[in-house]
Amino acid sequence: TFLMTSLSKQEQVEWEKADYANVNWDELGFALTKTDYMYVMKFTEEEQMFCNGTLTRFGNIQMCPSSGILNYGQGLFEGLKAYRKEDEGILLFRTEENALRMKVGADRMCMPSPTVDQFIDAVKKSVLANKRWVPPHGRGSLYIRPLLMGTGRNLEVKPSSEYTFLVYASPVGNGLKGVLNLMVEDNVHRATPGGTGGIKAVTNYSPIYKPLTEAKAKGFSDLLYLDALTGSNIEECSGCNIFILKGNVISTPTTHGTILPGITRKSIMEIASGFGYQVEERAIPIKEVFDAEEVFCTGTAMIVKSVASITYQGKRIEYKLGAETLAQKLHATLTGIQTGVIEDKLGWTMVI
Ligand code: COI
Repeated sequence: TFLMTSLSKQEQVEWEKADYANVNWDELGFALTKTDYMYVMKFTEEEQMFCNGTLTRFGNIQMCPSSGILNYGQGLFEGLKAYRKEDEGILLFRTEENALRMKVGADRMCMPSPTVDQFIDAVKKSVLANKRWVPPHGRGSLYIRPLLMGTGRNLEVKPSSEYTFLVYASPVGNGLKGVLNLMVEDNVHRATPGGTGGIKAVTNYSPIYKPLTEAKAKGFSDLLYLDALTGSNIEECSGCNIFILKGNVISTPTTHGTILPGITRKSIMEIASGFGYQVEERAIPIKEVFDAEEVFCTGTAMIVKSVASITYQGKRIEYKLGAETLAQKLHATLTGIQTGVIEDKLGWTMVI
């Protein structure tokens, strides 16, 4: 059972009258700012389906200490954003893709999942209930975090008997600030063949905290992981995909189960091919990265970010940065579509 509280009378009055929450929008990074509501929907032993989803006051949740998510990591998350248009309308970006990816992940983690319609409805409701936290046009976005977790009372190593789908949201900054200085990690692997690297399992992230923390202490922004089988091809960073540019060719590693099929990754591939670039998904040997003209990373949280340098076994290579880079051009086009400034010819956005 979750602890449910609703807005106080005073908060309700404020919620109804204020167009915007009191936030210093230009200071936002990627950190949690608590919002008003979250959405919760349960799959119970009795019902055997997700139903009765409701909005509830954002807050701490309660679950049995023996729940599947806490004991055995039976859980998934998603990440997507809502943007404010110039006319104050709110846009969602490719929400159906997140819903479908959660279904694929749920199947791998032996969990039931909400239907695509339930997922989209939950996201819409969560955004509209937290409308005053959607940053003003061009000054950030509302990051939406759907979670799917085993929350039944189980001790045995087996799928949970009950599940909870929860959607919370937080305003975040533009993600444009800064560049990435990457270090290649050749000891710890993010994913292994047959594992869960290709889905957004909650268990994919904390196992890399140790090398990541050490790399950050040395001044690096993130790690670039190598494939576990040969140790010679690049895969992705801790929470984003990677692209290299050489001449007219943009390449990114193929997603064969060890790489997260990013929705930003997919969108960038489509935009770049529309610009006339040849876009390739293939194995990329780490050696090839040294010859690249430009390198950039993509993800929902970071959007598109230029890589300033990559360090591998003590050797540091620097890449092109600045206004003339393809990364900047792609960032401008993608965020233009997401915020309704550039016409959305591909039907990626949805006004809510
Ligand atoms: C996102 O970019 O939305 C992600 O889910 C990556 C996360 C680890 C920050």
